[in-house]
Amino acid sequence: MDFNGNAPSLTDAEFDIISKIIYKETRIIMGAHKKTLVTSRLGKRIKALNIDNFKGYIEYLSSDKGKEELVNFINSVTTNKTDFFRENKHFEYMKSTFLPNWENAYKEGKVKNLRIWSAACSSGEEPYSILITLHEYFGSRFNDYDIKVLASDVDTNVLAHAKEGVYREDVVSPIENSLLKKYFLRSKTLNNMEERKYKVKDILKSSAYFRPLNFKDDDYDIHSEFDLIFCRNVIIYFDKDFQKQLFHKLHSYMKSDSFIFIGHSETLFNLADKFKYESSNIYMKI
Ligand SMILES: C[S@@+](CC[C@H](N)C(=O)[O-])C[C@H]1O[C@@H](n2cnc3c(N)ncnc32)[C@H](O)[C@@H]1O
Repeated sequence: MDFNGNAPSLTDAEFDIISKIIYKETRIIMGAHKKTLVTSRLGKRIKALNIDNFKGYIEYLSSDKGKEELVNFINSVTTNKTDFFRENKHFEYMKSTFLPNWENAYKEGKVKNLRIWSAACSSGEEPYSILITLHEYFGSRFNDYDIKVLASDVDTNVLAHAKEGVYREDVVSPIENSLLKKYFLRSKTLNNMEERKYKVKDILKSSAYFRPLNFKDDDYDIHSEFDLIFCRNVIIYFDKDFQKQLFHKLHSYMKSDSFIFIGHSETLFNLADKFKYESSNIYMKI
């Protein structure tokens, strides 16, 4: 074994092979500046598998036995940073504009249900922020409508966390106290030794559907059309060609006059024929 407690070293040639596998499996681009990150994240897998070095890991990944390792490989290379009510202007827009318009369209018989997709939902903070916003907006009218929120991610670890819906105290800190009390159960702590945890209540969970989904797949196996898609802080990891392909695909899953939200550092500038810019990284389907 060529390491002792530390991550094994990764040659440029090995990094090149690993980056190509990452691209093939997820379309994530790993630039040279990500070499240290890849070394440390995959180093943990190499250790867990008791493999000697990256050369051995690459061989293992390409063997029949290593096929199952691909899931852990993908889970290790994704970046899952997220927050409750991240880029809050999107949730404000839902309350002030999107939901009132949707409700009017419903009353006029133009739409029959409300479908929202948190594509690349990470550990669930985004879909639960959407659900809190929906409950706060509709109040007792929530049950009058057929409302579903789909939450998907390629990373099965974060998806399991999202489904479980249990968060540390520091993670729920962006949530207003009154909303925290209303939508979360607080764990007891023993002698202040354990960290307090917050569990999402069933009232939010009952309209949420979690499933794995890799944007690079040809068939997403989705049979709904959405009123609103959150696809935030994920296209930054892809190249322009794949971004374009992805948004063509997302476009096909959108109802007419529906919306898509992207992250504040992202843009759909090369898709002007498909989406019309509204405001704050909010686009409408053309
Ligand atoms: C930085 S997080 C963003 C989470 C959330 N949308 C937000 O804005 O807070 C990016 C997420 O994209 C997911 N992701 C990366 N590549 C993906 C792919 N090819 N298909 C689906 N999800 C992917 C990652 O697993 C990660 O959880």
